[in-house]
Amino acid sequence: MKAFVRTSITTQEVELQEVDIPKIQADKVLIKIGAFGVGIHDRYFIPSEVSFPYVIGSEGAGTIIEKGDEVTDFNIGEKVIFTTILQIQGGSWAEYAIAKQSALIRLPNNLSVEQGASIPIAGKTALECIREINSNNGDTLFIAGASGAIGTMVIQLAKEKGIRISASASAKNHDYMKSLGAEHTVDYNDPAWIIKVKEWSNGGVDTALAIQPGTGSDSIKLVKDGGLLITVSGDSQTVIPERNIEVRQMGHQLFSNEEMIELINKISQDKIKVVIEREFPFNDAVEALKKTETRSARGKLVVKIN
Ligand SMILES: NC(=O)c1ccc[n+]([C@@H]2O[C@H](COP(=O)([O-])OP(=O)(O)OC[C@H]3O[C@@H](n4cnc5c(N)ncnc54)[C@H](OP(=O)(O)O)[C@@H]3O)[C@@H](O)[C@H]2O)c1
Repeated sequence: MKAFVRTSITTQEVELQEVDIPKIQADKVLIKIGAFGVGIHDRYFIPSEVSFPYVIGSEGAGTIIEKGDEVTDFNIGEKVIFTTILQIQGGSWAEYAIAKQSALIRLPNNLSVEQGASIPIAGKTALECIREINSNNGDTLFIAGASGAIGTMVIQLAKEKGIRISASASAKNHDYMKSLGAEHTVDYNDPAWIIKVKEWSNGGVDTALAIQPGTGSDSIKLVKDGGLLITVSGDSQTVIPERNIEVRQMGHQLFSNEEMIELINKISQDKIKVVIEREFPFNDAVEALKKTETRSARGKLVVKIN
């Protein structure tokens, strides 16, 4: 099969190569992939002990074409959304992948494989963000980097809970963030953006969610005394705590498949939108990766396999 691979631990270059189709084990299925999601983590997020060439990728959607003896909940021919995070046998950036039964969710009939492939990583991270911020109806939330893959989902999930949202991105994304549910928007290039958020929130927001790396240090300035700052990209260490504000890096929480299924059901009922800025053809997957690495994607990028 054709697959995008890393060829060694020392180089992070990603290459298109011909490799063997992975062999299933008893608790796994073999999937003919229809589309896979693209994330900034895809180039470097690989298990510590793997053999090369290693097929990269964490998420996708496609059709089950073979299954192991212990797979009881899914059948050959079913379309599924799946994750392959840190799987020793390789990931989703290929024509075929294997995945554990526990990493599968049925693709609703009214969603395309491209939509399905865009959901798992951003969707799970957004659910984790909502759980971490623990805000309720009427609370104020500032989101730094709200027009990307995670922010697109977080705005909608927070709005659903009645949370009032101020969101940052460059000006071209302001109408977009408002269309998702942001009440107030700021441009991080505007020197007055912190003051504007403080004015909007009458002196400081209850919680800030710093999604983009490096946004934690500025975001803490617009949190009210004793409020909460959650960082998503690991910069909690560089934030100097002040005014009894709790600063925490978002942790990884165990999620039951039920919570992801609930999110996917909301998407299939059009209560939550998935936004795919661009679908790339298979041969252009590395171009998609480079685009996501510019940190300027609106919503999600996916690669489709015809
Ligand atoms: N903790 C976890 O489990 C986890 C999981 C997945 C991802 N992540 C991390 O989360 C981060 C975000 O991921 P993502 O996929 O949502 O990002 P993304 O899609 O790359 O986000 C891009 C968006 O962020 C905006 N942006 C860029 N720089 C900004 C800044 N300084 N301030 C405000 N907005 C800015 C851009 O808007 P403009 O184009 O308008 O500038 C763009 O629309 C990544 O660093 C990723 O590694 C963490």
